Parts: sequence; structure tokens; C-alpha cells
Amino acid sequence: MPELSPSDTAKDAAARAAVALVQDGMRLGLGTGSTAVFMVHRLAERVRAEGLRLRCAATSRATCDLAGQLGLRIEELDEIGWLDLTIDGADEIDPDLNLIKGGGGAHLREKITAAASDRMVVIADPGKVVETLGAFHLPVEVIPFGLEVTRVHIQRLLDSAGLSQRPMLLRQRDGVVFRTDEDNVILDLSLDCIGDPAQLARGLSAIPGVVEHGLFLNMCQLALIGSPDGSVIEL
Ligand code: 5RP
Repeated sequence: MPELSPSDTAKDAAARAAVALVQDGMRLGLGTGSTAVFMVHRLAERVRAEGLRLRCAATSRATCDLAGQLGLRIEELDEIGWLDLTIDGADEIDPDLNLIKGGGGAHLREKITAAASDRMVVIADPGKVVETLGAFHLPVEVIPFGLEVTRVHIQRLLDSAGLSQRPMLLRQRDGVVFRTDEDNVILDLSLDCIGDPAQLARGLSAIPGVVEHGLFLNMCQLALIGSPDGSVIEL
């Protein structure tokens, strides 16, 4: 394996620590993103070395493809029914283990998967740990039909919550509008500081056209934060 950057060493350390929690026979949810990529590699290594029998559901097509290439068998979440553990990355983690997710655009499937798990463990590098959520843009997955009307509803909600907001960006990738695995689009909200995440989450969920937002509140039980020196701390 080529030498890892300090940030990748931190991600890999967190991934290894999370994979150490996996036991034979477990039903697992596999997250999405660059940190989750390390986790899928480390999990595949353990399965090869120890012959672990696992049932795995993926939170995105990208993770499904990677896991398949590494020899992990992926099943539909509904085939498995319920999961013991989901391991996923995050864009921000606050002291109460509330999260912003969706930087990779997979937060809809990620939230469904985490909500169908006894336990959600988040893996991250130290740059993801914050005092207050909001410096990272908040992804909101939206149905393309009526997108501009939905945007107006979101703006009114933010205004009424007193949240200052720079332009709400329709996510693009390589110059074209990004489509999620469910063929929806994403509005990225630049909020700086989310004083009351629960209130904002309720307001966003109530807007027709909003499929899911990236606030994961009271869903994560443990965060494993890797460091560039390879050590890991638990939050
Ligand atoms: C994808 C996610 C990712 O878990 C999150 O963006 C963190 O990604 P990375 O590990 O690449 O920083 O929520 O929707």
C-alpha cells in the first residue's frame, strides 16, 4: 500500500478501530465516503483472514461496488431486515454526537440504514469534530419536481429561524447537476452555525419536496476519531 497522508492515516486508524468491533455473525451497515472506504478495506481484510460470516447492507452504490470488488457479499437492507451495527463517516460531529452528513450525497440511504441499526459508530479524522454544527454546508436532498418552490420554503424556514444563509447551492459535480442514488438533487445550505439543530431538522422534514436532510440527531452512539499518529480517541 502506498504511504498514506496524515489525514488518510487518521481515517484508517478510525476505520481499523471500528472494524475491531465487528464480530462473527453480525449484520452490518456499511457507510459511504473516503473514511468508509478505509473501513470497507479493513473489513474485507478481516473477513479474508478470519473467515467471518457477516451480512452487509451498503449505504450507496459506490460502497456496494467497492465491497463487491473486495469480496464482501452485499444484500438489500430489506433482505437482512435489521442491523446490529452501522459504521459510517461524518462531515461534522458535535459533543453530543449529533452529526452533519451528506458530503458525499448519500445521507438518505445512510440515515435509513443507521435508523435500522442497533448501533451507529462514526469514524472520522480530528477535523470533523466541532463545538457547534454548521460550518460545513448542510445537504438537503430534494425532489427535482418543484425545486424552486421547495427552495422558497427552505428560505422562509431559515429566515424565520433567524439563520443567516449565503446562496443555497444546487450541488454540481463536474459541471453537471449532481443526482443522488435515488435520482434526486441536493441543495447545500451554508449556515455557519446551527444553534438549534432539532428545530431546524423538524422544519426541514415538514417541507414538501424535502426528502431528507443531513442532520443526524441522537442517532450515533460512538465516534472513533483517528489521529495522524495512528492513535484513536472515543467520543
Ligand atoms: C456521505 C457522507 C460521508 O460519510 C461524509 O461526507 C464523510 O465523508 P468523508 O469520510 O469522505 O470525509 O455523509 O454522504
